[in-house]
Amino acid sequence: MEIILIAGIAQNNVIGNKGMLPWNIKEDLQHFKELTIGHPVIMGRVTYLSILEYLNKPLPNRMNIVLSDKVEDKKPGFIFANSIESALEEAKKYSDRVYIMGGQSIYKQFMPLATKLEITKIHKDYEGDAYFPEINESDWLEKKREDKENSENKFSFITYERKPQIIKPVKKGMFIAFEGIDGCGKSTQVRNLVHHIFEKSKYHHVVLTRNPYKNVSIREILHQDTDPYSQAEKLAELYINDRKDQVEEVVKPNLKDGFFVVTDRYKMSTISYQTAQGLEMQNLIEKQSSLPIPHITFIIDVSPEEAMDRMRKEDVSVRGKEHKFEANIDFIKKLRENYKIASEILKENGEKVFVINGERSKEEIFQEIKEIFDREIQN
Ligand SMILES: NC(=O)c1ccc[n+]([C@@H]2O[C@H](COP(=O)([O-])OP(=O)(O)OC[C@H]3O[C@@H](n4cnc5c(N)ncnc54)[C@H](OP(=O)(O)O)[C@@H]3O)[C@@H](O)[C@H]2O)c1
Repeated sequence: MEIILIAGIAQNNVIGNKGMLPWNIKEDLQHFKELTIGHPVIMGRVTYLSILEYLNKPLPNRMNIVLSDKVEDKKPGFIFANSIESALEEAKKYSDRVYIMGGQSIYKQFMPLATKLEITKIHKDYEGDAYFPEINESDWLEKKREDKENSENKFSFITYERKPQIIKPVKKGMFIAFEGIDGCGKSTQVRNLVHHIFEKSKYHHVVLTRNPYKNVSIREILHQDTDPYSQAEKLAELYINDRKDQVEEVVKPNLKDGFFVVTDRYKMSTISYQTAQGLEMQNLIEKQSSLPIPHITFIIDVSPEEAMDRMRKEDVSVRGKEHKFEANIDFIKKLRENYKIASEILKENGEKVFVINGERSKEEIFQEIKEIFDREIQN
């Protein structure tokens, strides 16, 4: 589906002031109408309210989809959605093209998903409090420009298209590990990356694996023993041996064949968790020094409070029983600190470790992961 951001932007990137457009350019309104008519438009609640103020009804001949978590006054003729995914699902029912019409928060969230930008650039600074996200020249190509002028303003209609991402064929496999405390959103990003690799290079196999790998007694201990500080030595040993099996049976053979291997948790988990249980970090690093080093390790970082909050909200049937580590906030605090310390040590040892801020939208997080992956794959 084509996802097109359509916006009027001042020279200083302003798009709005106190909930309103700072200018009134009728040629721009006409241009907006010509492009969007017949296609669904997606807007945020504040923009919806400004439309109600001007028109008191939806923009005609277009499905008007409003993103909001808490709008109370739902006017007829609009569709309301509470997530980007559901807004796009709705839009798909009406056209294979959707226009994203602001405001600031909506543009920012859809920017990573956009395939095209229809920008009216107004060649003057305006005072304002809402801005358009940066249009990065390495991502966007100016395809069309029409310069215009009226009695008050000079402006241009500019169409940008996303530059095709050229990824050279990869001859060697790549090994990628995801790390972080439970509740950090790691599994979603693992799935996103696997999908991205498959989409970008269909002739490669992607193998997804995780820790614990196949030793069932690890999971039994995690579920049955509720004291987060007990059985540290035993867990470290079980995890490291299980990981050695994973390396011999999954990681090495697939890398040798030039495939991608993505693992949900790897050696950093043992380093961070068992250090939080009281073992010595340096010792845990040394014990695993013979294991292959991932080409990239992503640590999805969230605060302990946020992680606990997310875990509480998750259905037990999805997440599994609460187990020994995740129910204890002090333990999670230590864990986060250990991930930070371990990442610094491993970086000093030459490993590529990227700490990703996990307290953003899933789309923003994945955009950063994708950019790092696409860059590293070229090296
Ligand atoms: N120059 C232009 O082309 C242009 C176009 C449009 C707007 N604007 C300007 O932009 C400004 C408004 O921008 P804004 O950022 O303040 O407001 P906005 O983006 O129009 O609306 C923000 C609201 O949208 C809802 N929302 C956003 N993301 C969501 C998500 N993922 N899921 C569910 N709901 C979500 C939230 O509503 P709830 O609080 O209800 O959850 C949020 O408070 C105004 O000044 C306007 O004039 C300019």
